[in-house]
Amino acid sequence: MKAKIKFNIITLFPETIKALTDYSIIGRAVQDNKIEIETCNLRDFGVGKYKQVDDTPYGGGAGMVLKVDVMDRAIQKVRQENPGTLVILLTPKGEKYGQKKARELSKKNNITLVCGHYEGFDERIRDLVDGEISIGDYILTGGETAAAAIIDSVSRLLPGVLGKEDSSINESFENSLLEYPQYTKPRAYKGMEVPEVLTGGNHDEIKRWRKDEAKKITKVKRPDLSD
Ligand code: ADE
Repeated sequence: MKAKIKFNIITLFPETIKALTDYSIIGRAVQDNKIEIETCNLRDFGVGKYKQVDDTPYGGGAGMVLKVDVMDRAIQKVRQENPGTLVILLTPKGEKYGQKKARELSKKNNITLVCGHYEGFDERIRDLVDGEISIGDYILTGGETAAAAIIDSVSRLLPGVLGKEDSSINESFENSLLEYPQYTKPRAYKGMEVPEVLTGGNHDEIKRWRKDEAKKITKVKRPDLSD
């Protein structure tokens, strides 16, 4: 069985990550020691009395920029304490995240997620990391939401994190298909009926129906997946 994954999160807002680790499936995975989540507060590496972490941009312009020296010290400390960790910067300019990347990351033992904040970060921070990930074509106010999405989507792929071992095999994006529709009781609700095949008990037929539905729905909603 695979050893647990440890996530290190470099952030100015460690409390936001805590919210993720205390609840539901991820909370249980932490309790069961299947994953470990450690935050590293970037503020601790700030400069001077006020622990300054950002400064005005060279060349002028609005906003503040995260300082490379501050981030370097934080990353160095995390690397020292976690030999071999894969350090990933969260940024809209990174490699687009998806289920394939989640599967790839679920094979690692130690992952460090670096959250940018405010208006931006010094370009030289890019030289301090092993890779960059974007969770989508939109701009977040900080990397913490992206870190939460990655921790969640990677953790649920680990053996034993979801209730049933195979719960993640048939779902959307695995096998490049969206998931087939699911129903539960009541059998009829406000005139909406559960498809008859699901209530007939013929398991071969049900299997075939689900496969066909998954293909159909993928073709209609996400034709790019079936190419
Ligand atoms: N930081 C800000 N926007 C982001 C995005 N889309 N993905 C990852 N990190 C981000």
